[in-house]
Amino acid sequence: MQITFAAPAVIKAGSWVVGATDGGALLPAALAADKASGGALTRALKFSRFKGSPGQMVEVLAPAGLAASRLLLVGLGKPETLDEKSLETFGAQIAGRLLGAGEAAATFQIDVPKGCKVKKDELAAHLAFGALLRSYVFNQYRTKNLEEYERKLTALTVLTPDAAAAKKAYAGLGAVADGIFMARDLVNEPPNILYPEEFARRIKSQLGKLGVKIEVLGESEMKKQGFGALLGVGQGSARESQLVVMQWNGGKAAKNGKKPKPVAFVGKGVCFDSGGLSLKPGAGMMGMKGDMGGAAAVTGLMLALATRKAKVNAVGIVGLVENMPGPDALRPDDVIKSLSGQTIEVLNTDAEGRLVLADALTYTQRRFQPKTVINLATLTGAIVQTLGYEHAGVFSNDEELVRRLLAAGRYTGERVWQLPLDPCYDKMIKSKIADMKNIGGGNSGAITAAQFLLRFIDKGTDWAHLDIAGVAWQDGEQKATIPSWGTGWGVRLLNRLIIEHYES
Ligand code: BES
Ligand code: MN
Ligand code: ZN
Repeated sequence: MQITFAAPAVIKAGSWVVGATDGGALLPAALAADKASGGALTRALKFSRFKGSPGQMVEVLAPAGLAASRLLLVGLGKPETLDEKSLETFGAQIAGRLLGAGEAAATFQIDVPKGCKVKKDELAAHLAFGALLRSYVFNQYRTKNLEEYERKLTALTVLTPDAAAAKKAYAGLGAVADGIFMARDLVNEPPNILYPEEFARRIKSQLGKLGVKIEVLGESEMKKQGFGALLGVGQGSARESQLVVMQWNGGKAAKNGKKPKPVAFVGKGVCFDSGGLSLKPGAGMMGMKGDMGGAAAVTGLMLALATRKAKVNAVGIVGLVENMPGPDALRPDDVIKSLSGQTIEVLNTDAEGRLVLADALTYTQRRFQPKTVINLATLTGAIVQTLGYEHAGVFSNDEELVRRLLAAGRYTGERVWQLPLDPCYDKMIKSKIADMKNIGGGNSGAITAAQFLLRFIDKGTDWAHLDIAGVAWQDGEQKATIPSWGTGWGVRLLNRLIIEHYES
């Protein structure tokens, strides 16, 4: 979808979208549209229950006296409740309506109502961003009824008094959308197509040309280096495991021999999680192509950072494996040796994500000495039981980092909620014969999984673990800005965190 910002002008084609606030008061552009159409809007309002509530709409098709194909009046609710997030939702809801109608072009002309805290340029930018997020579609594997799914809305113009300022406010958001779309694509792809090597190839082909430095470690290299935990998970699969290292160096360069410490993002990339020999039941296995949602978010984030040339030194590392019950698969009772040297008794092969992350986290810290490491993983069913679909769980050894993530979550709508780490939970992963076991074996499964990861974090590393099992994909009702199964969750959150705290 092509997005342009322009100064107010007469609309020559497509839909003209205007706004009203709570109570139904028409904003200036809506009044102008009503006047230009000889009162078509006020007439239509008489036959509707429109009250200007958030997301309410009234539509006039082929309004007499106008070149526009339709007038669409949108309720914005109370002006003081408007923020970046709600504007994105409105943009998405409008786009949803127009996409459903098969509209090809639209012009938004929504004034800043009195009492709204958001400035006019930001308002224009976030409406456009929301509409863009809604325009995503994954049609790769349809051969029939393409017409029904086609996105006809290809041109969006946002009218705003200072188009240059709005364009500046929007700068970067388009790049973030690119990152989100790549993450959604990766999550939506079926696992027979997107296995570890294919995932790595896509990173190379889509991020390489943006100036991201990419290295891929295959099984022989990882074996040499001692990735016993990650490789253990992959050994029941016919597909080769991979570790991909992405570096974006947009920040300050090395100074007097001292390299500035990067911020690192680590993703769980289980391209399919059958459970391994601790096989999942059929219903629980469905959707496990999305068990690489953490890796998808890290990849999408790196793409966004490079596309918008972020002034940050960031590292993205994804551990890509397939968890299958092949003849060489890990057995429950096996003991494996992680890259860190610590041994792990594998009592349940379905608790595989923590094994992949353990080695990826060790590698990340050894190689880059990052000040901050954030990992994302669809790690536990327990977090879904706990927080459902509205928050990801955050576990951290640094309260300031938690505070920052909570704030970025409130701003973007990708919200997180903190859960505890404590030695009393760590006790639950003591093994009878090895340094630790890979399951807690009781309740608090999301916490014992986090305690497991903490054992692979060096002293001095600020670390946060985001358990995104409830938010990486959506099965029920879709959110306005997320029209697909794969959500791309995490790209917006971490991009915001970087803007606020890590960009120079
Ligand atoms: N990938 C799953 C977690 C998951 C479950 C994500 C449901 C999304 C929806 C993970 O690898 C897993 O299987 N975890 C087990 C751990 C258990 C064996 C200790 C779980 O949560 O049941
Ligand atoms: Mn599993
Ligand atoms: Zn898993």
